[in-house]
Amino acid sequence: MIFARRCNVVLALSLAAGASLALYAQPPAARIKIDTERVIGRVDPLLFGNFTEHLGRCIYGGIFEEGSPLADADGFRKDVMEATRGLGVTLLRWPGGNFASGYNWKDGIGPRDRRPPRRDNAWGALESNRFGTDEFLRYCERLGVEPYVCINAGLGSIDDARHWVEYCNEPGDTYWARQRRKNGREKPWGVKYWGLGNEIDGPWQLGHKNAEDYARFALEAAKAMRRADESIKLIASGSSNFSPGSDWVGWNRTVLDRLNTEIDYLSLHTYIGNPENKFENFMAISRDLDDRIEVVEGQIKAALIRSPRPRPIHIAFDEWNVWYRARSGTTEYEVASTGLEENYNFEDALAMGMFLNSFFRHADSVKMANLAQLVNVIAPIFTNKQGMFLQTIYFPLAEYAKQRGNVALSALVRSPEYKPDGGRALGYLDVSVTRDPKAGAVYVNVLNRSEKMDIATRIENAVGKLGSAVGVWELNYPDLKATHTFGDDRKVRPTTRTIEASLSENGFAYTFPKHSLTILKLAVQ
Ligand code: AHR
Repeated sequence: MIFARRCNVVLALSLAAGASLALYAQPPAARIKIDTERVIGRVDPLLFGNFTEHLGRCIYGGIFEEGSPLADADGFRKDVMEATRGLGVTLLRWPGGNFASGYNWKDGIGPRDRRPPRRDNAWGALESNRFGTDEFLRYCERLGVEPYVCINAGLGSIDDARHWVEYCNEPGDTYWARQRRKNGREKPWGVKYWGLGNEIDGPWQLGHKNAEDYARFALEAAKAMRRADESIKLIASGSSNFSPGSDWVGWNRTVLDRLNTEIDYLSLHTYIGNPENKFENFMAISRDLDDRIEVVEGQIKAALIRSPRPRPIHIAFDEWNVWYRARSGTTEYEVASTGLEENYNFEDALAMGMFLNSFFRHADSVKMANLAQLVNVIAPIFTNKQGMFLQTIYFPLAEYAKQRGNVALSALVRSPEYKPDGGRALGYLDVSVTRDPKAGAVYVNVLNRSEKMDIATRIENAVGKLGSAVGVWELNYPDLKATHTFGDDRKVRPTTRTIEASLSENGFAYTFPKHSLTILKLAVQ
């Protein structure tokens, strides 16, 4: 009724906007209501973390290629560094991943030619150790990103972990600080973020443990590492296996019950895919993400209520991405033989929006996230010896990263529904909203997950006056399966424009095209 009256007024028109602004014969089918007073939390800049593992061509041939004309004097690929800067990366996790659970960091320091090559038993590769702690930390420093080091909680020892902290962070005259100085670094690296192991819940992990044994190890490791540097932040290994039948809730409960006085984050991992080639089901995975996050939020709350010394604990989604094609084989070695070199298509790029919308909607609890990974291995940047190209997923990641530090808002969203897999009804529009109060800007991030339907939407603003100039960033392409390659990475690229919205009652109409990701930048005074 209200819409029917409004639609006469709102006959939306923008020649510049082309197809996305239509003349509405019908009232808008969807509604997004923004309220700047309904704050969820700050979009932590650490949500734009990334991950570099000793795996396939991520480190060697990815970020680091000694002797390459594309590398600098340290062996860092300059083209990759530039693309990483463009991605807005804030934090880099290293050295794994599964690799971490068999890694001895002491092999990777000192003169490069004297470092021992070792068999990497996580992925079945040969590890030269030419890239180690100092190379990684120098790389982070050069990029201006926070390093995040994951200890070996699989086959490693607590002593190794506390010595690693000492090597990186000790300002005084101790044995490991001397080693660091001998290796060319006088002042401490100041590594703040430390992971207490990787996916220790997984039977595929070297040194896999049950939850009790892991918690016992992690508690003592946390204590010893904090004595080496009490300012560090610790991330416990939470659930990485959400498949039906896995007791991921039980794992988290034990870890949180035992470690709630020590940790700052609980890590979660999720990889998704579209093996059945059902686009709308693929796009519905955001509901699983929301559900998992909300279950873990409740678990954290339950642990803290009973904690003798409660401390804020947040979720670190420190591995996430689309990964299902370059994954064949039953053993890790077979999987590794694919190089995990996913060639991402347009629908995968839309999935980036789905993940980030979910993280933004839970901005009060999800305070860190790391896309897995940065280069070549399930990555937005892809290299060969001659150059690189940007995969489709690069562009939404780079654009969303511009919203880091904003305030996430809880928006009212109503949109036509469907039943993915015949199950619960789900709205076609997947939405998150953030606000930059200083700039007076509100960002409305909208994934239209309908494969066939453009969705006419009324966007309303509850508090403050809406300006009529609207910035539009849109990612869309007719072929959901379109991919990029060397010399051809311009197909799936965003378009941008500014439109003059036809305002009525502090709102306007906008049509989100089928299978598209749109970011509207509104001015709200
Ligand atoms: O990112 C690839 C692998 O996926 C990581 O090594 C592991 O942690 C996860 O299973």
